[in-house]
Amino acid sequence: DWTPEHTLESLVREVRERVGEERVLLAVSGGVDSSTLALLLARAGVDHVAVFVDHGLLRLGERAEVEHALKPLGVNLVTVDASERFLAALEGVTDPEAKRKIIGREFVEVFKEKARELGPFTFLAQGTLYPDVIESAGGAGAANIKSHHNVGGLPKDLGFELLEPFRYLFKDEVRELALLLGLPDTIRLRHPFPGPGLAIRILGEVTREKLEILRRADDLFISTLKAWGLYHETWQALAVLTPVRSVGVVGDERHYGYVLALRAITSVDGMTADWARLPLEFLDEVARKITRQVPEIGRVVYDVTSKPPATIEWE
Ligand code: XMP
Repeated sequence: DWTPEHTLESLVREVRERVGEERVLLAVSGGVDSSTLALLLARAGVDHVAVFVDHGLLRLGERAEVEHALKPLGVNLVTVDASERFLAALEGVTDPEAKRKIIGREFVEVFKEKARELGPFTFLAQGTLYPDVIESAGGAGAANIKSHHNVGGLPKDLGFELLEPFRYLFKDEVRELALLLGLPDTIRLRHPFPGPGLAIRILGEVTREKLEILRRADDLFISTLKAWGLYHETWQALAVLTPVRSVGVVGDERHYGYVLALRAITSVDGMTADWARLPLEFLDEVARKITRQVPEIGRVVYDVTSKPPATIEWE
């Protein structure tokens, strides 16, 4: 019968037998699937390189968190700081789908360059899960409403043999494996985070200044959720920097600051979602913290729309 220990043992064996003395390349995004995959390759002791493309659209401290989680456990992690390149490619772009396409394209380019530099590799390992296998076989329509350019979602024709050890597993099973492999809970139990990252949470053009503002506000929201023990009560929580500037008073002066929207939802799979009934005292504390510590933000609002009709993200 199924136990995580048995699964881990047989996956380690399967990877070792399939890979042998060949080399494996993989992309790590900071999510649970790719992180667990990297740990599995390290545990199996196969020759691997895990490439982590930092596109500059990550949350505060996320890159360091991933590095600190994986390197000590034997993952051969190579971080590529490509933030300049992504920002340059996004300059002047306001359309959400265009942003997604650019980020997806740049990601593949950066990854391919790195693969050439560090190669050759025989295998490309991907953290494909059973539901992904089903979905791509059935071409599920709902998933295509937005072009989901997952970081780590690479085209299948890069010229490598695909290694997909999780193709018969569900997310919960991967989380069990992650526990056995020593992945810290901060990553193992993390909310989903979109591949294009903060770029689709800055409505309109993405600039360095706006990324900086959103990153600080997002961090205050998430860390306060954790402090109140509410993080795991929600399926996903996010902050959206709107282009709206609204009036406020600072001293005796009228001051125009950005409107920041907070969104927290409960859900089973992200296909439908209900807005989370967070305590008013909590929202009050977060709004005060954000406006005090991020003075560019003048007003904080909370999104009380469920999905449908609204999507989880604002773009
Ligand atoms: P929506 O906004 O469609 O989001 O209700 C459903 C889930 O998908 C995530 N999401 C994305 N993930 N690339 C991703 O990798 C994307 O372009 C993208 N857009 C939305 C969203 O965060 C939520 O978990």
